Amino acid sequence: MMVSFTINVLASLALARVSSAIPYSEYILAPSSRTLVPTSTRFVNGSVSNAKALLASSPSSGNALFQGKSGVTYDFGKNVEGIVSFDVDSVNGTGQYIGITFTESSLWISPDSCDGTADAGLDDPLWFPLDGSGTYTALPQYRRGAFRYMSVVHPNDTGSVSISSTTVNMTANPAAGADGLRNYTGYFHCNEDKLNRVFYAGAWTSQLCSIEPSAGDALVHLGVINSNETLNYTVSWYNNYTIANGTEVLTDGAKRDRLVWPGDMSVAVPSIFVSTNDLTSIRNGLSSLFVLQNSSGALPYAGVPFGQITGAFSFTYHLYSLIGLYNYYVYSGDIAYLTAHWNQFKLALAYSLSFVDSSGLQNVTSSADWLRFGMGGHNIEANSILYHTIQLGLSLSTVVNDTSSNANWTSYADGIKSAANSRLWDSSAGLYRDNETTTLHPQDGNCWAVISGLVANNSQTTSISSNLASRWGPYGAPAPEAGATVSPFISSFELQVHFIAGAPQRALDLMSFMWADFMLDDPRMTNSTFIEGYSTDGSLHYAPYTNDARVSHAHGWATGPTSALSMYVAGIQPLTVEGKTWQMAPRPGNLTSVEAGFSTGLGDFSAKLTRSNSSTTSTAQGFTYEFSAPAGTNGSLSIDEPGCEGSVWIQEMGMGTSTTGGSIGLVNGTAEVSDFTGGTWRVKVTC
Ligand SMILES: *[C@@H]1O[C@H](CO)[C@@H](O)[C@H](O)[C@H]1NC(C)=O
Ligand SMILES: *[C@@H]1O[C@H](CO)[C@@H](O)[C@H](O)[C@H]1NC(C)=O
Ligand SMILES: *[C@@H]1O[C@H](CO)[C@@H](O)[C@H](O)[C@H]1NC(C)=O
Ligand SMILES: *[C@@H]1O[C@H](CO)[C@@H](O)[C@H](O)[C@H]1NC(C)=O
Ligand SMILES: *[C@@H]1O[C@H](CO)[C@@H](O)[C@H](O)[C@H]1NC(C)=O
Ligand SMILES: *[C@@H]1O[C@H](CO)[C@@H](O)[C@H](O)[C@H]1NC(C)=O
Ligand SMILES: *[C@@H]1O[C@H](CO)[C@@H](O)[C@H](O)[C@H]1NC(C)=O
Ligand SMILES: *[C@@H]1O[C@H](CO)[C@@H](O)[C@H](O)[C@H]1NC(C)=O
Ligand SMILES: *[C@@H]1O[C@H](CO)[C@@H](O)[C@H](O)[C@H]1NC(C)=O
Ligand SMILES: *[C@@H]1O[C@H](CO)[C@@H](O)[C@H](O)[C@H]1NC(C)=O
Ligand SMILES: *[C@@H]1O[C@H](CO)[C@@H](O)[C@H](O)[C@H]1NC(C)=O
Ligand SMILES: *[C@@H]1O[C@H](CO)[C@@H](O)[C@H](O)[C@H]1NC(C)=O
Repeated sequence: MMVSFTINVLASLALARVSSAIPYSEYILAPSSRTLVPTSTRFVNGSVSNAKALLASSPSSGNALFQGKSGVTYDFGKNVEGIVSFDVDSVNGTGQYIGITFTESSLWISPDSCDGTADAGLDDPLWFPLDGSGTYTALPQYRRGAFRYMSVVHPNDTGSVSISSTTVNMTANPAAGADGLRNYTGYFHCNEDKLNRVFYAGAWTSQLCSIEPSAGDALVHLGVINSNETLNYTVSWYNNYTIANGTEVLTDGAKRDRLVWPGDMSVAVPSIFVSTNDLTSIRNGLSSLFVLQNSSGALPYAGVPFGQITGAFSFTYHLYSLIGLYNYYVYSGDIAYLTAHWNQFKLALAYSLSFVDSSGLQNVTSSADWLRFGMGGHNIEANSILYHTIQLGLSLSTVVNDTSSNANWTSYADGIKSAANSRLWDSSAGLYRDNETTTLHPQDGNCWAVISGLVANNSQTTSISSNLASRWGPYGAPAPEAGATVSPFISSFELQVHFIAGAPQRALDLMSFMWADFMLDDPRMTNSTFIEGYSTDGSLHYAPYTNDARVSHAHGWATGPTSALSMYVAGIQPLTVEGKTWQMAPRPGNLTSVEAGFSTGLGDFSAKLTRSNSSTTSTAQGFTYEFSAPAGTNGSLSIDEPGCEGSVWIQEMGMGTSTTGGSIGLVNGTAEVSDFTGGTWRVKVTC
C-alpha cells in the first residue's frame, strides 16, 4: 500500500558540519589540556592532612602534609596517561622519600607496587629521594601508559613532607598537538545514552594507544620472567623502546604491550577513522611492520622488539597487516603509500596461498594468533581471513592497475569457500567447526566467515547470528576457542555479524550489556576505556595470562562498537576510497533517534534518523533519515525495516528548499535504491 504524505520544506537541515564545533563534544573524554590533575581521593592512609589540596577542584591552594608512614590514592575519574610531577613545599627529617604507584583497575591499588606489565609480578613504584623543596618529575621512560588511580606514598616512619601539587603530563596522541586532543572529526549520538558513552570511550581508548614512537615497551623481562613464576619482588619497567619511525604510532594497548600488533589494528583503525581520523599513527604502525617483511613474504607477528625476540609467525596476523594497508588506503586516499607497498602485498598473499593444500584450504602450521588456543590445520578463522584478504587484493588490484594475479587469486578464493563449506560447516549446530577434527565451534571463525562472505548462503549467516547470540552469558559473548573467555576483540567482529544478518538489535543489546553495563560501569573497570579480555564468570582473569595484574584496560582491539555505531547503526559506509562511493544503510534496531558524522579528504558525511513514533519499541513504524555526502561522490541507500510494508519517499534537499522527490514501495520491509549523487537527501520510510 502506498501512503501519501507531505514533506515540509526544511530550511535548516543543519546536517553539514559548520565551523569547528563538533556536535556532542560534551561526551569527548579527552582533556583540553595535557596537564592532568586528579579529581578525587579514593583512600587516605596514615596521617595525611588536607589530602584534597591536590585535587583539580581544590578550593584552596593549600598543601597536603604526609607525616610518618602515610599515603593517598588519587582517582583521575577515567583512565589517563603520562609523566608524573609533584611539587614539594617542605621536607622535615633526613632520608625522606616519596613513592608513586599507578593502576588502571581498582583491584591493584597498593602503596608498594603498580599493576603489572610483565608475565609475572607487579611493577616497581617510582621512588623519589627528596633533597628539599622543588619540582620532582619522573624520567620520560617512566611515563605510565595508562592508569586511573595514582597513589602518593610517604614510606618513612619518621619525618614529614608537604606537597603543593601533583600533575601528570599527558604525552599520548602527540599528533593532536598541545590543544587538539578534543578536535574530533566524527561524532555519534542516539537516544540510549550508554551507547553514546561507549562510542566516546572507544575513541579515547584509541587516543591512549597512539603513542610517541620512542615510548614503546622495552620488554626487558620477555622470556626472562615467565608466567609460571611467583615473585616476591616488584619488577622494573621502561617505556623507552623505539617501535616505529615518525611522530606517533598506534599500539595495541596503552599500558601494555605498547607495541604494534596488526590484529589489534583491524578493530582499532575503523574506530579511529570515525572519531579522531588520526591516520598518521596507523601509517607509521603499518610501516614498522612492512619494513620487517622477509624474503619469503612473511610479515611479522608484531613490530619490534617482540617479533625479533620470539621469532613467531602468525598466519592471521600476517594477513591483518594487509587488511591494515587496505583500510589505511580507503580511509586516507594515500595512493602513493598503497602503490609503494603493493608488491609487498602480493608477495605476502602469495606466501599465505603457498600453504593451501589439495583440500583447497590453508593448512595452518603455527599456533600464533590472538592468544586463542588450538590454532592449526584447516582452521576456519584463518581460512576466512585469507578469503577476505583475497577479496581486498582483488579490489586493490584495480586501483593500482595490476590485475595480473586476479584469476589466480579468484581461483584460490573459490576453492577456499567451497572446501570450507563442505568440510567445516556443521549443519546440525548451525555453526562452523574450528577444523575437521573437532566439535568446537569458535566465535572467531564463525564471525570471520560471515564478514568475509565465505558463507555459502544467507541462511548460514542468519543461523550463525542466532547461534552465537544464544551462547551469551551475563558478561558478554564467549570465545570458547580461548577457554572460558570473553574477548572484546572477537566480540567486536560479532557485532558486525548481527548487523549483516539483519539482526541489529542483537548487536545493540550486546554493546549495551557487555560494553556499557560491564566494561564501563563495573567498579573494577576504568569507566572510560575498554579491557582486552576477561572471564565468562565476570572475573578479570584473561585465560591466556596467569598474571591478572597485567591485563590491559585500554586496548584498541576492544573498540568495535565505535565504528559499528557510525557505519551500521547510523549506516554511513564508505565503499571506496575516502567514500567516493558510499552506501547509507541505517540499522537502528529499537533506537528512536540516531545521529552520526565523520570526514574524509573529500568532505563531510552525516546522517540523522528519527523514528516516527518514539514511544514504542516496535521497529515497524517508519522513520525519517536525512543524510549528506560530499559533492562529487555517489552512492546507494539500503533500508531494512522489518515488518514494514509501506514505502520510501526520497527527496534531495538543496539550498534550504525542497526539490521534487520520488517514492518506491518496500518489499519485505526492505528497499535498495542506487544512483544517488553527493548532496543532502531526506528519506521518509512510512509503514
Ligand atoms: C625512607 O624510605 C625509603 C623507601 O623505602 C628508604 O629507601 C629510605 O631509606 C627511608 N629513609 C629513612 C630515613 O629510613
Ligand atoms: C618542618 O619543621 C619546621 C620547623 O620545626 C616547621 O616550621 C614546619 O612546619 C615543618 N614542616 C613540616 C612539613 O612538617
Ligand atoms: C611533557 O612531556 C613532553 C615529552 O613527552 C615534553 O616535550 C613536554 O615539554 C612536557 N610538558 C611539560 C609541561 O612538562
Ligand atoms: C583544535 O581546535 C581548536 C579550536 O578549534 C583550535 O584552536 C586548535 O588549533 C586545534 N588544534 C589542533 C592541533 O588542530
Ligand atoms: C616455567 O616456564 C619456563 C619457560 O616456559 C620453563 O623453562 C620452566 O621450566 C618453567 N618452570 C616451571 C617450574 O614450570
Ligand atoms: C625471595 O625469594 C628468594 C628465592 O625464592 C629468596 O631467596 C629470598 O629470600 C626471598 N626474599 C624475600 C624478601 O622474601
Ligand atoms: C631505557 O631506560 C632504562 C632505565 O632508565 C635504561 O637503562 C635504558 O638504557 C633505556 N633504553 C633506551 C633505549 O633508552
Ligand atoms: C625506520 O626507517 C628505517 C628506514 O626505512 C628502517 O630501516 C627502520 O627499520 C625503521 N624503524 C622502525 C622502528 O620501523
Ligand atoms: C598462483 O599463485 C600461487 C601462490 O602464490 C603460485 O604458486 C602459482 O604459481 C600462481 N599460479 C599462476 C598461474 O600464476
Ligand atoms: C582443531 O581444533 C581444536 C579446537 O580448537 C584444537 O584443539 C586442535 O588442536 C585443532 N587441530 C589442529 C590441527 O590444530
Ligand atoms: C598440515 O601440515 C602439517 C605439517 O606439515 C601436517 O602434519 C598435517 O597433517 C597437515 N594437516 C592437514 C589437515 O593436512
Ligand atoms: C590506473 O589507471 C588509470 C587509468 O589509466 C589511471 O587514471 C590511474 O592513475 C592509474 N593508477 C595508478 C595507481 O597508476
